[in-house]
Amino acid sequence: MDIGTEVGRDKLIEQARDALSKAYSPYSRVSVGAALLAASGKIYTGCNVENVSFGLTNCAERTAVFKGVSEEGESFKIAAIAIVANRDGARFSISPCGACRQVLLEFAQSSGSLCFFLNSDDVLVTKSLTELLPDAFILPTK
Ligand code: THU
Repeated sequence: MDIGTEVGRDKLIEQARDALSKAYSPYSRVSVGAALLAASGKIYTGCNVENVSFGLTNCAERTAVFKGVSEEGESFKIAAIAIVANRDGARFSISPCGACRQVLLEFAQSSGSLCFFLNSDDVLVTKSLTELLPDAFILPTK
């Protein structure tokens, strides 16, 4: 899949929409789906998984990342990720939360690894993972 093209990007968004249908979100009623293209060429999808103890909720993005790492190990890298959301069935703008930005950056293939999502004006935003988290926390050894 070439996410440099509109077709590739739209395919990734479509897979994120499929993943959204699996969301477990009885508390917020916000369903989120993510689809990420790994450097290996494989696609990993994820949805948000809520819990009655709200703080235990896992976002869609991190579900997808953790699936990728658990399949590929340390070599897992993100080339691009698409995120979509709805609330009670209606389209809902989404922007990756701070925790997910830090986790996504950890596994970015390069500073140009891309993130696609719909902003509050319903406009499709394309940003690099480094743009999403400027001045990220890093360890001197990394
Ligand atoms: N959520 C995500 O899955 N990804 C984000 O980037 C932001 C928020 C989920 C968590 C929770 O289940 C619901 O959206 C409402 O916060």
